[in-house]
Amino acid sequence: MLDRFCAMLLFVIFVGAFGAENTEYCEMLGDPVFPLLSMDGDITIGGAFSIHSQISKPSLSFTDVPEHLTCSRIDLREFRFAQTMIFAIQEINNSSSLLPNISIGYKVFDSCGSTLTSTRAVMSLLNGQERTLGKTCSSQSSVHAIIGASDSSSTIVMLQSSGIFQIPVISHFATCACLSNRKEYPSFFRTIPSDYYQSRALAKLVKHFGWKWVGAVRSDNDYGNNGMATFITAAHQEGVCIEYSEAISSTGPGGNVAKVVRVIKSGTARVLVAFIAQGDIDILVEEAVKQNLTGLQWVGSESWITAGRLATKRYSGILTGTLGFAIRKTKITGLKGFLLQVNPGQDPHNNLLREFWEATFGCSFQSGLHGQTLCSGSEILEDINNPFTDVSDLRISSNVYKAVYAVAHAMHNMLKCGDAMNPQCIWKDDFEPKQVVKHLQSTGIGTFTF
Ligand SMILES: *[C@@H]1O[C@H](CO)[C@@H](O)[C@H](O)[C@H]1NC(C)=O
Ligand SMILES: *[C@@H]1O[C@H](CO)[C@@H](O)[C@H](O)[C@H]1NC(C)=O
Ligand SMILES: *[C@@H]1O[C@H](CO)[C@@H](O)[C@H](O)[C@H]1NC(C)=O
Ligand SMILES: *[C@@H]1O[C@H](CO)[C@@H](O)[C@H](O)[C@H]1NC(C)=O
Repeated sequence: MLDRFCAMLLFVIFVGAFGAENTEYCEMLGDPVFPLLSMDGDITIGGAFSIHSQISKPSLSFTDVPEHLTCSRIDLREFRFAQTMIFAIQEINNSSSLLPNISIGYKVFDSCGSTLTSTRAVMSLLNGQERTLGKTCSSQSSVHAIIGASDSSSTIVMLQSSGIFQIPVISHFATCACLSNRKEYPSFFRTIPSDYYQSRALAKLVKHFGWKWVGAVRSDNDYGNNGMATFITAAHQEGVCIEYSEAISSTGPGGNVAKVVRVIKSGTARVLVAFIAQGDIDILVEEAVKQNLTGLQWVGSESWITAGRLATKRYSGILTGTLGFAIRKTKITGLKGFLLQVNPGQDPHNNLLREFWEATFGCSFQSGLHGQTLCSGSEILEDINNPFTDVSDLRISSNVYKAVYAVAHAMHNMLKCGDAMNPQCIWKDDFEPKQVVKHLQSTGIGTFTF
């Protein structure tokens, strides 16, 4: 993959060839990418969330340096995940029993729901933003652990870069069973169960209702392909037959969604099992409306089965009665109040906070833009009910919360002196990410076993 290859070349060592003087230095190629949200601390936890859902397609002419990737269309739910991570960090920072006297910082990057931007995010998390690193490239990672990403393919891409440095990655939402391979991904953990369980449970669900003839549709990525492959194997064992199995390969212009919906429509199966990633489902359902795809019993995967934005009148003729397994719902005390405090005044130079505000209130901080009203900054967030402020259905957010706590407990145990787990003291200034991996492996508090 080209993007991965390029990322590997971000740092090079130049060996000075001029004179006897040692002019060896290590410099970053290209421009550093800065976190969207950050705060310094003794320990730093990185985060990678799909804060925007759309990415500009770079032109790969191979004759010029590719243009910068730009991400657009803020995803309010993912922004809530990022703020939930910050909330948990603050809680631990304030706690006198968990990591006392140690301040925790964070760096949140945008993975933009794309493997291309995920590579950029993980390289920035590892490298930091310094342009030159002195004589050698050997430097500490800029973070001690990474929370993310929100989908399986992005997580895999991140692990391919972070794995060799043994930086722990704890995902709140990557469910692909492929990630359970401990040999390939020894520093990966998650606070969500593997699809190995979900896929087989879906096959049992279909069998339970006596549906023996079903159609199958999936996203053409690690999530969809692996999840569906396990489902199909399990379905065969349950005596369920698959009429067709279609993959949505691209949702942009020129994508095959229209063709997939035509296949579904011309099929005779009345039950449709949809293992679809969150970015693809909206486009599939929208196309289903367009082609009047009614009369089907949908069976969905966890990524979209509880998505509130699909429970609208527009889709009611299509999705009503949809079944699937949801991630457990929880309450996080104090989160609502924390979210309502988010506003551009917290950091007037932060573009993301301004963008969030503009998207929420339909106003603009630039005067006279498209006739939009000017944002005052004192609009009232409490009056708004959107995927950011709505905490009535916390599922993935609570996985984010648990992931931060899993990291904090592992670090806490490491920094405790003199017990069996930690015979020697590790001081906060010189502990390394790989020690966090070791502690997560041995205690695994809060994470799922494989
Ligand atoms: C953590 O606490 C320290 C000291 O009280 C403070 O300076 C820092 O801003 C806090 N960090 C976060 C992420 O709240
Ligand atoms: C942490 O403590 C600060 C200062 O007392 C407070 O403003 C903040 O709300 C606390 N954060 C959390 C998440 O408890
Ligand atoms: C934290 O710092 C305070 C003030 O420096 C000190 O009194 C206290 O003993 C420290 N707590 C721990 C657990 O190290
Ligand atoms: C859509 O399909 C339903 C059921 O097959 C049918 O009753 C309805 O007339 C169709 N609507 C359109 C606009 O074709």
